[in-house]
Amino acid sequence: MEQVLEQDRLKRLVGEAALAFVTSDSIIGVGTGSTVNCFIDALAESRIQIEAAVSSSEATTERLTRHGIEVVELNQCGDLDLYIDGADECDAHRRLIKGGGGALTREKIVAGASRRFVCIVDESKKVNVLGQFPLPIEVIPMARSMVARKLVALGGQPEWREGFTTDNGNWILDVHHLDLVDPVAMESKINDIPGVVTCGLFARRPADLVVIGSSSGIQQF
Ligand code: A5P
Repeated sequence: MEQVLEQDRLKRLVGEAALAFVTSDSIIGVGTGSTVNCFIDALAESRIQIEAAVSSSEATTERLTRHGIEVVELNQCGDLDLYIDGADECDAHRRLIKGGGGALTREKIVAGASRRFVCIVDESKKVNVLGQFPLPIEVIPMARSMVARKLVALGGQPEWREGFTTDNGNWILDVHHLDLVDPVAMESKINDIPGVVTCGLFARRPADLVVIGSSSGIQQF
């Protein structure tokens, strides 16, 4: 219980720290998850008035809108200067596993459209090698079993996140025990499987900066 409270405190700390990267009157990309929720709440309470946000999920759109922050479609904007998002795991090279909340595809799109991706995490997310957190993969529903078999051939143990449908109408496989020592190669291999929409590895396009909320304060690399 105390550990959860401390993690929540660190999420709020890093959510507030992310305000330092936001410029007034800009359009920013906003990720998904409990850490990003802390950022959204801090932004709404701050004096920074952004022009609008591009959202990575229906949940984030709902929260932004509730705070009176305008949400615009990515197709209405050019590239974005800044994308703020959390992660489920990050390594020393700023490579990430994302998608615990199932928003990985839109997150990868908005990250890809942004010049700077600032990833905000609490210290529990930092790992030496990615892969303790099961890797989320968004799949077209009709391809679920076929993709699962290919993932077994790659050494993984896929588990269908039953009862969950993504904002894009697809399903998620959470893959355990994949060897992610070379996450760039694995990201490409998985994305090449027909029926895979996106895998939750953000290695080919890692974060540009990781900001960590830790018990000794804010760290970044
Ligand atoms: C959403 O699909 C994920 O990629 C989140 O960014 C990730 O799960 C981090 O979420 P928390 O901030 O809630 O840990």
